[in-house]
Amino acid sequence: MKRPVFAANWKMNVGPTEARAYLKKFLPRFNRSTDRTVILIPPAISLTTVVDEIGSRRKDVLVGAQNIHTEEKGAFTGEMSAAMARDAGARAVLVGHSERRHVFGEPDAATTVKCRVAFANGLIPILCVGEKLEQREAGKTEETVLRQLRAGLAEVEPSQMAGILIAYEPVWAIGTGRNATPADAAQVHAVLRAEIATLSGSSRTAAAVPILYGGSVSDVNASALLAAENVDGLLVGGASLDPVKWSMIVST
Ligand code: PGA
Repeated sequence: MKRPVFAANWKMNVGPTEARAYLKKFLPRFNRSTDRTVILIPPAISLTTVVDEIGSRRKDVLVGAQNIHTEEKGAFTGEMSAAMARDAGARAVLVGHSERRHVFGEPDAATTVKCRVAFANGLIPILCVGEKLEQREAGKTEETVLRQLRAGLAEVEPSQMAGILIAYEPVWAIGTGRNATPADAAQVHAVLRAEIATLSGSSRTAAAVPILYGGSVSDVNASALLAAENVDGLLVGGASLDPVKWSMIVST
């Protein structure tokens, strides 16, 4: 069995002061662990604080960025490059999160570049895919997530694919309190894994890629979702904002 991955997407919450207080509560509650990976994904302004608080002793807790720009540097006010995120101590980066796609209008083509740029700068891309409610109701779930997966991986070398993380986050489940059922998640994850096998030309690579589920994960539903076939971890928004709740979820 792969080690499960628990990723906390704080979105636009938890500034540096709060981040320090959060880690002082969370770290002692999460026993040093070798059988699971925890990734904290704070807003850019709190990246270095989180990295500093974790320190060098906790190699079991990684830090990720929520977004990167496609360019390396330049006149892009308000943006952060992959190299800067890496320099600040990030090891991973969310690419194509539903809010980037649907609130900020990020096209598939940007996820193609961001996955490539992430790898080129030593960041693990966490490529997020997921259908909207109307797409699910129109029977277009698979078509949607496969289109997003293919776009994200379009410029990733097959040999690099084992190093990516995928998160299946149905848009209708994000922040709504209405999570996908474990069976729904298992079904989509199987489709994604089969496509990774095709794209990489290797079922071993596909088996190695952690596919996380996200969307209204809580301390109550975490274990059932994690037990579903092909669900290798969880990407958690709202329920990760409370360090006590998060410590329970990562101990699932
Ligand atoms: P949620 O968000 O857990 O609050 O539904 C998940 C996400 O958007 O990553």
